[in-house]
Amino acid sequence: MSIRVAVTRGVSSSISECELTHLDREPIDVDLARTQHARYERVLADLGCCIERLVEEPEFPDSVFVEDIAIVLDEVAIITRPGALSRRGERSSIEAALQPHRPIQHIGAPAILDGGDVLVVGRDVYVGLSTRTNVNSVRQLREFVADYGYRVTGVGFKDCLHLKSSATAVSDDTLLVNPDWVDLSAFSGQACIVVDPAEPRGANVIRVGDTVLFGADFPRTGERLSAEGFDVQPVEATELAKAEGALTCCSLIFESAQA
Ligand code: GLY
Repeated sequence: MSIRVAVTRGVSSSISECELTHLDREPIDVDLARTQHARYERVLADLGCCIERLVEEPEFPDSVFVEDIAIVLDEVAIITRPGALSRRGERSSIEAALQPHRPIQHIGAPAILDGGDVLVVGRDVYVGLSTRTNVNSVRQLREFVADYGYRVTGVGFKDCLHLKSSATAVSDDTLLVNPDWVDLSAFSGQACIVVDPAEPRGANVIRVGDTVLFGADFPRTGERLSAEGFDVQPVEATELAKAEGALTCCSLIFESAQA
């Protein structure tokens, strides 16, 4: 029997020193960020995830964003080489957490890769080419997963930190996309639902089983998903949004045979 695992990590006390690329720095209320993060974990738990919460790492401001440190497929986990130097020390604890669940591969220099740039839809792996992710990582990923039948494609996008700020999967063949940030033609073969134009940051959602979690700040996009027949649930994540993080960034969710 398998369980659904969600690896998370507590919000770092140094989150206010996080990396920022497209946003101006503004004060982050650490207590509120922790409260919202705890609610996020509760929602995941209520949807059947077994939460594996790693200890907070005060020396790594962005370490709550565990998604950037690994790609977890059914067959293998790939430890990334984050594009920001400040984030490379986050890897050892994530690798230790994933070791019981998957064989491990590592992205190596000169490749850089943030997990937020990796969108998996069925057997398609889209890799956003960004300030954090380069074409070398596309080649390495392709080698790691070719035997399992995945197609790995590099994708350009603009005006946001990670590919998954602009597009995420709501089913095995349907994406939620902000077409101003990524060209829909990058995803040929996938159906695309477009975010509400007033909610450009609303494309980052998490699918857990048959439920799609969306940012509570993006109600019109939530309504669009609901109108398309998806079972949706809002989650507040305003404080970590100031650190350029969104819903997918805060967990690594996968099935495992290991309790
Ligand atoms: N602050 C999120 C990141 O830059 O990795």
